[in-house]
Amino acid sequence: MAGKEEERSAAEEKKAEIKWNEETQRFETEDKEAYLQYHLLQIAGGKTAMDMVHTFVPRSKRGMGLAAKLCDAAFDHARSRDLAVIPTCSYISDTYIPKNPAWNSLVYKDEPKSSM
Ligand code: COA
Repeated sequence: MAGKEEERSAAEEKKAEIKWNEETQRFETEDKEAYLQYHLLQIAGGKTAMDMVHTFVPRSKRGMGLAAKLCDAAFDHARSRDLAVIPTCSYISDTYIPKNPAWNSLVYKDEPKSSM
């Protein structure tokens, strides 16, 4: 059975394959072929949101969970920096979040306008 240390280093290794590229606002694989593109937006309450606009995985690497890995890294980043998430990309809104519902807590929901 794997010990806690081994589990931790395996998790770190998994994360390390995805890099944050602050300049291009992407989370990407080392070869940059697969990526998640976001833009930063100011939202209500002086907060900032990551508008996750596009996820792309080359055809030859699809169906192996690579897009989910990119999203894991991007959502971890949002959580650690107290950023909200706008899931503009349909893969994120229709597939990733329903499979990882805990991340719903980060999703920005427009405040309903008061009629008073
Ligand atoms: N919208 C929503 N879900 C999608 C999707 C899309 N456009 N394309 C694929 N999926 C679903 C698949 O049906 C599959 O669901 P299942 O696990 O229930 O069978 C799941 O995503 C596969 O997940 P994963 O292996 O993590 O994804 P991937 O590494 O194969 O990459 C995309 C998925 C969408 C990033 C990839 O197919 C791609 O680059 N497509 C072209 C660009 C695109 O359409 N991007 C999404 C809109 S921004």
